[in-house]
Amino acid sequence: MIFDDFLKNQFSTITSKAAVASFKFVGKKDKIGADKAAVDVMRNEINKLKIDGHIVIGEGELDEAPMLYIGEKVGTGDGMAIDIAVDPVEGTNFVANNLPGGLSLIAIAEKGKLLNAPETYMNKIAINNDIHAECVDLDYSIIKNINNIADFKKVKTSEITACLLDRPRHKNIINELKKLKVNLKLISDGDVSGALMVTDKKYNVDIFLGIGGGPEGVLAAVALDSYNCKFQGRFIFDNEKSRFRAKKMGIVDLEKKYELNELVKGESILFATGITNGELVSGVKLKKNEFITETLVTHKNFSNNIIINKIPNT
Ligand code: FBP
Repeated sequence: MIFDDFLKNQFSTITSKAAVASFKFVGKKDKIGADKAAVDVMRNEINKLKIDGHIVIGEGELDEAPMLYIGEKVGTGDGMAIDIAVDPVEGTNFVANNLPGGLSLIAIAEKGKLLNAPETYMNKIAINNDIHAECVDLDYSIIKNINNIADFKKVKTSEITACLLDRPRHKNIINELKKLKVNLKLISDGDVSGALMVTDKKYNVDIFLGIGGGPEGVLAAVALDSYNCKFQGRFIFDNEKSRFRAKKMGIVDLEKKYELNELVKGESILFATGITNGELVSGVKLKKNEFITETLVTHKNFSNNIIINKIPNT
């Protein structure tokens, strides 16, 4: 084991502190303020850690993000070398509008083991480990994927549930799913949580699919790896700027379909602290002089668990 309990506690405290900072913006209709508060705290706290950290997924490229930009060196520089992916607020709309599902996220992996994901969309698919991995593929039609799952589970397609972002770009997928009478779980935002809905039967989701953020795809892949779920993703480079950036990041095959183990290799952990209440974790609660937070910690080969932190209300 490379990542010990000490490091786990430190990172879960950091996402907790970032969640608390953002919590102060819940319902304030201020997406930018909510994000900035979490970014500032997260960066400040990561920089105190005795690690040689490297941001591989962050707030954007140096020209658009002064803090936690892709490539930024973080930590004291003299400890373990690790790759860090951050999404200080996943679901800025949820926080701004006081809706369920806002999360503060960090993923860590050994140096060089986390894909440096470009800021572009990704076509994604994920299923639970109860369903045979061969049943679905990004390259199959919707009908083939759903029929394969139904055949494998020996149920009707009307008993299958699919989760995806409710977006106009998914009109055709939604129509296909409707024709098959599949139950839809349409989410307004937050497709990291959406992807994680396949990790446990209690969420009653068989398949997660559709187009969302590429960085969010890599963060979800870290957690799905811990639950032994299948995930595939393909970045979408549909303009000159995104193609240029992809090449700059060393991506040669712009059409490549990434398997989970090409997005994240070796040991990795996702830390997901609730800002507002959600299906995965509860949101921040203020009790007397402390904020109580819940953080889902997923760690491959070790049990995934929820850590409760108490952050003083200073
Ligand atoms: P933010 O928290 O950065 O606003 O992202 C929310 C989100 O819903 C992600 O979960 C998802 O991957 C992405 O936005 C989808 O992008 P779009 O809103 O452009 O469809």
